[in-house]
Amino acid sequence: MTLCVPTGYRVGAWEVGPRIATGAFAGVYAGRRVAHAPWLPASAALKFVPTGTSTPRQLRHLRELVEREVQVLSRVRRPRLIRMYETLTVDDPSSPELDGATVLVLERAERSLDVLLRRAHPAPPALLTQICEGLAQLHQAGWVHADLKPGNVLLMADGSVRLADFNLTAELDGTHGYVPAFRTARFTPPELLWAEATPRGHRIRSTADIWAFGMLAHLCLTGTTPLPGATPSDALEAAARYARGDAPLRLSPELPAAWRGIVADCLAPSHELRTAHDAESLLLRVARAESRRRVPRDAPRLPGVSREPRDARPAPPPPVRPGGPGGPGASGAAGTGSGSGSGLGWRVAASAAAGSALAAALLAAVRRRRRMR
Ligand SMILES: Nc1ncnc2c1ncn2[C@@H]1O[C@H](COP(=O)(O)OP(=O)(O)O)[C@@H](O)[C@H]1O
Ligand SMILES: [Mg+2]
Repeated sequence: MTLCVPTGYRVGAWEVGPRIATGAFAGVYAGRRVAHAPWLPASAALKFVPTGTSTPRQLRHLRELVEREVQVLSRVRRPRLIRMYETLTVDDPSSPELDGATVLVLERAERSLDVLLRRAHPAPPALLTQICEGLAQLHQAGWVHADLKPGNVLLMADGSVRLADFNLTAELDGTHGYVPAFRTARFTPPELLWAEATPRGHRIRSTADIWAFGMLAHLCLTGTTPLPGATPSDALEAAARYARGDAPLRLSPELPAAWRGIVADCLAPSHELRTAHDAESLLLRVARAESRRRVPRDAPRLPGVSREPRDARPAPPPPVRPGGPGGPGASGAAGTGSGSGSGLGWRVAASAAAGSALAAALLAAVRRRRRMR
């Protein structure tokens, strides 16, 4: 159903370049600005969402997805969320396939996290902190992402992270929002996998993103999932057994000790158990765990992320014990850690400093709140 847009095609101020990637619905292309429009950047990513040749039902469905994404991106601007410059509609009756397509003109990223993870793990430190910052920013604005996974996490040329793909994103109406029924099973919490849809769609809460973050962190740090299955249906069966309490979470021995409690808390089997944790409280713990992580010298490097000698600041405080009611595995069995004692620390370079500043501000706010209690 995705579109094929020829190189050199013109839309608005943009000329279409090579295809960057094909998503579930969209084709994403490099875009070069060829018109005088100095308020727009010289290059961008053009996300084409088709409408032209779809059936009326598909059309309604795609329109809803695009509207969700456009709504979020125009209303919520935060440093860790991909930026949208403008939206365009292709008006080209001579190309029925393209005619009517919506084009989202987005800040151009270097690659997505799934591409990085295909090459190697663990993902570089600071990356999970920035993803968690993105979630905190989105949740603070009152939205649930609902489709957090490696393909929807983008890495910029300067090494900083942006959350992207907001076409399932739901605005919270009180405690929950509504999403259509299509999500990636592996990153969907058990309570939603078999949930009944209401006329407005599936009810979703921000704890769904907390689950997805736990899965993502385990994947980034170990290259594996803690609810494995040879086939997608085996993986679903593993999730069902875990949710019923018939099988434990299988945290990889490669998962660093400081991360075991965090991942187990994120992957608590029910929404009720996960409510003890939100993106802000998680950010505090994630930033601490990341600051302790050491990565082998030959680990993949992100541009803008430098490896420097550990500075002379005092050692970070001891790891936070898993808070909340403690999901399975929350006791934090000893892990192997990831190459401790290398004598080298990683620090995010100035380019990603905005994220670190936010993490520091959030840490300070949480500490203040704790002192006031
Ligand atoms: N702004 C961007 N810059 C660079 N690549 C992008 C950008 N947005 C999306 N992509 C690439 O396109 C893929 C699909 O985009 P996405 O927004 O996830 O669409 P879909 O809704 O079809 O999944 C992403 O996984 C990523 O590889
Ligand atoms: Mg996507």
